[in-house]
Amino acid sequence: MSTNSSNSKKTPEIVFTKYSPYMVSDLENLYNSKGESLKVTKVISLCRCGESKRKPCCDGSHTAKGIDGEKKPGRVKDKVHSFAGKDITIHDNRGVCSHDGACVDGLPSVFKKGRRPWIDPNGASVKEIVDIIEKCPSGALSYTIGHITCTSLDREPAIKVAKNGPLEITGGVLLKDDMESKPQSAEHYTLCRCGASKNKPFCDGSHFEIKFTDDDN
Ligand code: SF4
Ligand code: FES
Repeated sequence: MSTNSSNSKKTPEIVFTKYSPYMVSDLENLYNSKGESLKVTKVISLCRCGESKRKPCCDGSHTAKGIDGEKKPGRVKDKVHSFAGKDITIHDNRGVCSHDGACVDGLPSVFKKGRRPWIDPNGASVKEIVDIIEKCPSGALSYTIGHITCTSLDREPAIKVAKNGPLEITGGVLLKDDMESKPQSAEHYTLCRCGASKNKPFCDGSHFEIKFTDDDN
């Protein structure tokens, strides 16, 4: 049995195949984009095709068209690039970025939209950089200071439904699928729920391209 070391509760799991919705067990904390708690039971099924009328839950709508969980050609590859600065090295995996903009909006002196290189690790204080990286929901960003690389935080297991975007997982909820998908950070990652990601099960920002909306959450 998997347990959460801080409180000995069972660690929540998300279990699915390439063709099924997300089956979530033992989750206690599910929030909408306003931070309001949503009802959970011991096992819940969350939509990943984008068609449910009861989002974020699955209502069986996927049975009409089916779910295609395959990775697609032309996706941005899962590859970590490192940007070494004076006091901090910033690591970045473009393949799993959910493009919520927390970095470029929050610290544009370091995370420079549309520029190459797009990260300047000397563009702000270490504290400012760390604070922003800790807001990155997808795990695309992480950092090394000295010999210590930090890819995770100590948070309660939870799933937050991003506004018109992915499921934002925190707190080490376990991911188990038939592709043996591994999040960039085991503690936090973002799962596609619009059905359009080229890098399923992870969100790759494609929800913006298809103008995915979920007015209820
Ligand atoms: S997911 Fe992370 S890297 Fe991507 S835009 Fe948001 S904060 Fe930046
Ligand atoms: S929710 Fe982001 S690509 Fe589907």
